[in-house]
Order: sequence, then structure tokens, then C-alpha cells
Amino acid sequence: MDIQFKVAEERCAGCGLCVLDCLPHVLEMFQGSPRVAAGMEDACYQCQHCMAICPEGAVSVLGLRPEDSEPLPGDGLDPRKLETLIKGRRSVRRYREQNLDPVLLQHLLEVAWAAPTGANAEQVRFTVVDDRAKLERLRGEVLAGLAKLVSASALPAGMERFADIVRSWVEEGVDVLFRGAPHLIIASAPAGAPTPLADCFIALSTFDLLAQAHGVGTLWDGLATYAIRDLVPEVRHTLGIPDDHLFGYVMLFGYSAVSYARTTQRPGPLVHRVA
Ligand SMILES: Cc1cc2nc3c(=O)[nH]c(=O)nc-3n(C[C@H](O)[C@H](O)[C@H](O)COP(=O)(O)O)c2cc1C
Repeated sequence: MDIQFKVAEERCAGCGLCVLDCLPHVLEMFQGSPRVAAGMEDACYQCQHCMAICPEGAVSVLGLRPEDSEPLPGDGLDPRKLETLIKGRRSVRRYREQNLDPVLLQHLLEVAWAAPTGANAEQVRFTVVDDRAKLERLRGEVLAGLAKLVSASALPAGMERFADIVRSWVEEGVDVLFRGAPHLIIASAPAGAPTPLADCFIALSTFDLLAQAHGVGTLWDGLATYAIRDLVPEVRHTLGIPDDHLFGYVMLFGYSAVSYARTTQRPGPLVHRVA
């Protein structure tokens, strides 16, 4: 593999930070400049730390130019804003009957994609329902599948509450499964990836916080996860989730019909400090 590691010699200060930060030791210093060590190129896992760390913007790798990266403020971000976001994000169960602006949706997906993955595998796939009408169809298919299980008394043990979920929808039009959300996202990853489920949860957590920072409501949807992953698995094929993928989780999202005036108050964290 040609990782296209290039150094603009006129800018390189020879500080060696790129070499020190290269986890798989692909790089070495040679006569005051970094270079790829003999036979090490294939060990690169494309994390781009060499380019990210260079104070002079002298390093490019994988054909990427440092000037196309976003500069980072040296004094960091205001942590209080992030803390307010973490404490103030709520599970949203009422949504406006409106599609999200597609430009905002694309932006959320692109930024959430920056979440870390084990060994930098970057194999998380976002399956996205981007239109209310599509979600309506999906709801119909999932509830029809659940209704079949209910009428055949075939709900597995522990899943009996899905009978009530079907009843609520059929008799009262109450959508416990998808909460009337216009959209959902499912993260999945190849079972053979180094850390597939962790990657999915981290990507969705990132999407969750980012969406809420943009005023978009979200809900981690365990019920829809059970329904699609375990109870009506044919829906997985309708959605195009590859067979060799582990199913991460379902998250609902859309413009929220509620807003919260204050944070909730949680008891202190359960912490066990190792003796
Ligand atoms: C993994 C996970 C699964 C969840 N599944 C559901 C669900 O199926 N339906 C639902 O209404 N809420 C679900 N929730 C939301 C939780 O009930 C919610 O996070 C909790 O009540 C605290 O509320 P908050 O998120 O607003 O702080 C889930 C949350 C998590 C983290």
C-alpha cells in the first residue's frame, strides 16, 4: 500500500512529533526529517495522526492536504457548553410532523462519522430512514410482522409486551415503537471488524449529542431494536442491512415537539474506586 507520506521539507521543523505519535511505528526520523521506515508501510492504519499533530502543517498522508483539515483552537473548546449539552439532552418521544432539512441530516451523518472505531476500522454503516413516508411504511411492516407473531402466540418469552404495543397501535393509534418520529438511524458493522458493537454505540452516541446540539430530538429505541433485530428480522432485509453485519441499535430522530427548560437531577455516579 502506498500511503503517500510526504513532507514539505521547507516547512518541517524536524521536531519528530509525527514519529512519536505514530502508534504502529511506521515512521522514523532520518537525517532530521520523518520518513516511512523500510517495510513498515503496510502497518499504517490510516489514523492520520502524523498530519494532525504537525504544528507546521508540513505532513501530508494518504493524498490528503493538511490545509484541507479544520484548524483546532489551541485553547480547546468551552467544556461548560458540552457539559450542559450532556446533562440537558433528553429522550424525545414527541416529534413535529416534518422531515429534517436534508442538508442538516447529511451534516449530522458526516460529523458523526468522525467518531472513533477500534483499530480505525471505519466500517460502521448508517442505515437511515430519511423521509416520514418511508418511516410510515417501515412502521406498517414491523407492526404487521409483530401482529402475526401475536396472533400465532409466537412471541418469545420475555417479549410479551409487544402484544400491548400492537394493541395500542391498532386500537388507539399510539405508536410506542417509533413514537411518531419522522426518521431513524441504525448503526451496524461487519461482525469481523475489530470492535463492531462498540463502534456502533460510539457512533450513535456521537450522533445523539450532535443532533441535540442542533436542536434535533433523538431517542435510543430499544423496543424498535428488539422488533427489527430479533422479532421481525425480514425487515432487516427490507432496510438493506448486510447479512454479515452485527446490528448495533436503532435511534429515532427528528425536530422535537417538546423543549426542556432545565436539566434533570441524577443521583451521584456509581463509582467503585479500586483499592
Ligand atoms: C439503550 C437505550 C434504550 C432505550 N430504549 C427506549 C425505548 O425503547 N423506548 C423509549 O421510550 N425510551 C427508550 N430509552 C430512553 C430511556 O428510557 C431514557 O434514556 C431514560 O428514561 C432517561 O431519560 P433521558 O434520556 O431523557 O435522560 C432507551 C435508552 C437507552 C440508553
